[in-house]
Amino acid sequence: MGEAITIQPTRNLTGSIKVPGDKSISHRSVMFAGLSSTPVRIKNFLFAQDCLSTVSCMRSLGVKVEIMENKELLVTGRGLHGLTEPENVLDAGNSGTTLRLLMGILAAQPFFSTFTGDHSLRNRPMGRVIMPLSKMGAKISARQQSRLLPLAIMPAGSLNAIDYPMPMASAQVKSAILLAGLFAQGITKVTEPYISRDHTERMLETFGVKLERTGNSVSIEKVSELSAPKVIDVPGDISSAAFWLVAASIIPGSHLVLTNVGVNPTRTGIIDVLLQMGADITLSNERWSGTEPVADITVKYAKLCGISIQAEIIPRLVDEIPVLTVAAMFAEGKTTISGAGELRFKETDRLKAIAAEFTKMGGKIIENQDGLDIEQSTLHMARCYSYHDHRIAMALAVAGAAGRGVEIEEPHCIDISYPEFYTVLSELNG
Ligand code: S3P
Repeated sequence: MGEAITIQPTRNLTGSIKVPGDKSISHRSVMFAGLSSTPVRIKNFLFAQDCLSTVSCMRSLGVKVEIMENKELLVTGRGLHGLTEPENVLDAGNSGTTLRLLMGILAAQPFFSTFTGDHSLRNRPMGRVIMPLSKMGAKISARQQSRLLPLAIMPAGSLNAIDYPMPMASAQVKSAILLAGLFAQGITKVTEPYISRDHTERMLETFGVKLERTGNSVSIEKVSELSAPKVIDVPGDISSAAFWLVAASIIPGSHLVLTNVGVNPTRTGIIDVLLQMGADITLSNERWSGTEPVADITVKYAKLCGISIQAEIIPRLVDEIPVLTVAAMFAEGKTTISGAGELRFKETDRLKAIAAEFTKMGGKIIENQDGLDIEQSTLHMARCYSYHDHRIAMALAVAGAAGRGVEIEEPHCIDISYPEFYTVLSELNG
């Protein structure tokens, strides 16, 4: 039996929270700065394991990344063609974003590189990136007929552009292809069935790259260099804010203000869905951080009701389904989630994990092939397992705080994206 933490039932949540920096934007800021030839200061960088995996891989590729006393990063890049051959295997840890985006960049380099990751990442599908990159001329070999880590990337000479209709909506796959497209001859075009988060597109524009965006397609052309901004200020992560949006919505008497949260429309599905369920959420102080919209969010307790969530909105809340399930268990009636088959390929099979663990707490949840049916439930105390998945652990904590408490086995996986989460939860308890 692994280590466990106990989350007590919470009376109400009141106060103000500055959620940590956005994970997706933090990764991209270090990678893109590393491909530039002028130094970039990164403010509000997310110091959590996933983004530190990116820092460590970029350092292994010759990029200088300094952590300043004020907790800013100072990245001194090597230019678009200056990365150097890593002398050891690159370890992406638990981070799909580190691995898949870097694969796009490294496929175009004139040197050899290899990747591994933790148990979870070694079981996640990589064929979805290897296949389109190979069509561009990349030379990548991986375990199990090029599907799983570890993998090796051989120098390919030059890459050619592709026009690639993606079988799934995935920002990681889209980004890998666009990043390879920066180095490829011709116009590289990707088309998604539904639009996924567009931080890569926005940040490429910040770095002076011209993209063409029409409908669900993005096109990019080869560039000779990136022109970096002096400073990137990373907005707070809406995927971390989501735990508080749900917790305050379902715990009577709660009133929270979440400051400096990124509200990029490709990420705000959680707000749209909670509002549809009857939540009391308002945005204020709306502003820009570079090309990313930011706001403060106020959330108060409200009576929620069940709704139907379908495929089209899933990419806009793909990481929020575990905590959305908690909202659904506290909402009157039934909530159905469909078109969410991609959840089976996250840090763990999240559909399976959600159904198994919340059921232990009294949740009325039925797992189906690509989604979940959730009915209003009366929760009780239970001992549950995180599957080493940060978002499962935090969703369990919210359910326990709003219900009758929970014991979470393997709780420290929250270090992947939100190391202070349990501390903030216990401090806020009014
Ligand atoms: C991410 C994309 C999403 C998301 C992940 C971060 C990114 O993954 O689930 O947490 O930063 O591009 P997919 O591209 O696999 O949907």
